[in-house]
Formats: sequence, C-alpha cells, structure tokens
Amino acid sequence: MLFLGLVDSTLIESLYMLSALIFILGIKRLSGVRTARGGNALASLGMAIAIIATMLVVGVKVNWLVLAGGIVAGTVIGALLAIRVHMTGMPELVAFFNGMGGAASVCVALAEVALDLTKQRDGALSSLGSDKAVAIAASVLIGAVTLSGSLVAFGKLSGKIKSSRIGPIGSQGLNAVMAVACIALAVWGGFFATGSGSIDLAHWGLAIVALLLGIGLVVPIGGADMPVVISLLNSYSGLAACATGFVLHNNLLIVAGSLVGASGLILTQIMCKAMDRSLTHVLFAKFGDDGGGSGGGADEYTSVKSAGPEEAAMILDTATSVIIVPGYGMAVAQAQHKVKELATVLEARGCTVRYAIHPVAGRMPGHMNVLLAEADVPYEQLFELEKINGDFQTTDVAIVLGANDVVNPAAAEDPASPIAGMPVLHVWEAQTVFVIKRSLSPGYAGIKNGLFERENTMMCFGDAKGFLEELIAEVKEL
Ligand code: TAP
Repeated sequence: MLFLGLVDSTLIESLYMLSALIFILGIKRLSGVRTARGGNALASLGMAIAIIATMLVVGVKVNWLVLAGGIVAGTVIGALLAIRVHMTGMPELVAFFNGMGGAASVCVALAEVALDLTKQRDGALSSLGSDKAVAIAASVLIGAVTLSGSLVAFGKLSGKIKSSRIGPIGSQGLNAVMAVACIALAVWGGFFATGSGSIDLAHWGLAIVALLLGIGLVVPIGGADMPVVISLLNSYSGLAACATGFVLHNNLLIVAGSLVGASGLILTQIMCKAMDRSLTHVLFAKFGDDGGGSGGGADEYTSVKSAGPEEAAMILDTATSVIIVPGYGMAVAQAQHKVKELATVLEARGCTVRYAIHPVAGRMPGHMNVLLAEADVPYEQLFELEKINGDFQTTDVAIVLGANDVVNPAAAEDPASPIAGMPVLHVWEAQTVFVIKRSLSPGYAGIKNGLFERENTMMCFGDAKGFLEELIAEVKEL
C-alpha cells in the first residue's frame, strides 16, 4: 500500500479536476427531465473518482480497515434508504442528507481542532494559522446550523414537529442573541484563540450555539414555505463543505461545495419566484406563526357539487381538449400510470390531452415530472405554469388530480390569503373542472379552497388511482 501515499500530486489534482468537471456536467444534465437520470449516474461517477483520488492522497496515513468500514456502512445505509424511501418521502430524505452534510463538516472541523490541541499538549507548536482557524469557524457555524435546521425541516415535513416554538427557541429576539453569540465565538475561535489551549472551548461553544440557532431559525417557518427552506439548507450544506475544503486544503471539496452552494441558491431563488415569496419573507416574516392556515375543513363549504365516474365520463365524452393538473395526491395514490392510461383512451377518441405542471406541486422540485416520466408520459405534453395558464379559458375539461394549493383561486384573488401572490394554475377558467380527491380536506397550506364551490367545479371524491380506474372503465364503455 505504500505507493498509494507517494502518488504524484499532479495525478491527484488531475483526478480532482476531472471529477469537478464531471460534477458540472452531471448538474447540467440534472436540469432537464430527459437527461436527469444520466446526470445522476454521471455525478455518481464523479464522486467515485473523487473518493479514489482522496484514498490515493491519504494512502499510508489511514487505517484502511476504518476507511473500508466507513465506505461499506455508508454504501449500505445509502442504498437501503434509496430503495426503501417512497417517492412522497423524498423531501424528508433530502432534508436528512443535507443535515448529514452539515454534520460531516462540523465533525471534520472539530477533529482538526482536537488534533491541534493534542499537538500542543505534546509540546509542539500549534499548526493552526488564522486562515485555517477562520475556515474551521465557518465550517462549524454553517455546518451546525445546517445540521439542526435540516433535522427540524425533516421533522416538519414528516409531520412530527408541528409547533412554531420549542420552549423559548424560535423567538426572533433569542435568534438575534444567538446569531450575535455565534459571530462573537467565530471571531474568537478564528482570530484570537489560535495557538491557545482555549481553542476547543471557542469552537465547541460555537457548535452548540449554532445548533440551537439552526433550530430557532427553522422552527417558526410555516409549512407552505418549507420547500424554499429545504433548498436553502441544501445550499448551506454546500457552503459548509466548501469551508471544510479550506480546512483540509482540499481543492475538490472547495469546488464541489461551491457547486452545491451555488446551485442550492439558484434553486432557492426559483422556488421563491414560484411561490411569489421573497427570501426575507420566508426567513423572517413568519416568526411565531406557523405560516399555513388551519382552516379548510368540510364545514366551511356550503355549495359543493359532486360527480361520480359515470357522470364524469359522460362529460369527457364530448370534450376535445383536456388539461390534467397533477398534485401531491397523485403521488400518494401512485396514480401516474392510470393518468397515462386515461390520456391514451381520451386521445384515441380524438381529444387533446396536456399536463399542467406547477413548480411546487407535490413535495419536492420536479416531483410531478419524475412521476409522469416514470409512467412514460411524453415530455412534449408537460407544460410549465406560465406556458399553459392562458390556455384554460379555451379548454373543455381541467382534471385536478390530488392537487389543492396549486389551484387555489385565493392566491390570485384574495390579498389576505396566506398564499396570496403565489402563482397558481387558473383551472377555474376551463369550461368544467373535475377535482379528484378523497374529501374536502385542505392541502399543505391548510387553507380553504374556493375552487371546490365554483359553479363549473365537480368534486370527484375518491382515491386518485381508484377513481381513475373507474373513470377509464366508464369512458371505454361509451
Ligand atoms: P396539496 O395542496 O398538498 O394537496 C394535496 C391534496 O391531495 C390534498 O388536499 C389531499 O386531499 C389530496 N390527496 C391526498 N391523498 C390522496 C389520494 N390518495 N387520492 C386523491 N387525493 C389525495 O398539494 P399540491 O396542490 O400538489 O400543492 C403542494 C403544496 O405542498 C404546496 O402548498 C407547496 O408549497 C407544498 N410543498 C411543496 C414542496 C415542493 S418542493 N414541491 C415541498 C414541501 C411543500 P384529500 O385528503 O381530501 O384526498
């Protein structure tokens, strides 16, 4: 194994450069539905090259048994999680992974501090220059905020954390105090404690306060804003990794961390735009407020019309244009294959079928695209909100399948609504609207949806998949 520690640094840097290039190409391919799968595979290849190159660097310095154990454990846990997770649980998994990225950054940075302290106790001089100490402080601060913030986001998405406070944590005042304390500890650890025995005190103190700050920052954020928070935390995890790259003097970690940080920020901006929220509003405006409403119970509706599969099929019989609007309920019911089947049946009868995709439909970016691609729905039939919103007026039937918030007219018409200003799909402008869902329960934002009471809306109560099965059978019989 000795040669591994003596590998030419040019080779290592070249391998790092190659994997950074592959990461960039992978991310580029991830931005398109057609190329996303290949992009994922490409990025995995980049990661494999990065791991091999890093093993060549550390070569003789490590315990290979520990290294192999880590790789095997990580691979097994990652594979099991990926295989077992349901599509609807993917955002929670992403939140968890972000948190683990933050945890890794904190651990590496604190390990560097511990190593330096051991050297000092053995009588050697501290090898931590201010540059490294500042990188350690940044790594601990961002990593710890990412870790605890992501775990809270995980809890919120899975419905385990509902409150907007945990004791005093979550209040704006306390967050401000903790933020100031973090900056003070980071300055102490980064500039003044280097070379002294109290370096660990500064960084451990920073880790603890930053962990509490992460909880305090995410706990008050309302449910409907959670997608933005997840992508922001994703960006933080990249920035933490980048800072760790400076701690370890590892160029690839710096590049890869910056890529994650930048792409996370771009996604955050896209999500903010899609929900018509400013980042400041998401992060600070909802302090002490859960964000979403708590209304939308069945008793709030007075004039709802409903239709069964037979009646819906009769209306579809005369339709020449249909727009399907999928939402979270389609994912829960795994109804994507039935949607495709219905579209095929309708198309065979001369009807034009298109799909309107809202950017935050479901529970993660691209959720609907992934499911519809799985069911082999042609990409050409998928239309983004701004491309299709003007077409509802000339459409015979809009089929809202397990979607709720993304078709709520209150966003466009009621300035007092919690989702006011969020761009929504104007399904109510179609001649007839079918809303397929199990009940009158609200969606993620927890608010009443006036669409259910519109003159041209028919509520089709039932599980999305089950209702579609019956609907397809009825249409086929006509
Ligand atoms: P929602 O507003 O959450 O509504 C989903 C609806 O699906 C519910 O009203 C539910 O009604 C129905 N449903 C659940 N299971 C069903 C089943 N088996 N069959 C039929 N219907 C079923 O969904 P949306 O319109 O897709 O909006 C997404 C919301 O999630 C937005 O508020 C968004 O901000 C938020 N969010 C999005 C993301 C991302 S990144 N996309 C991440 C986190 C949160 P019933 O119970 O009556 O059936």
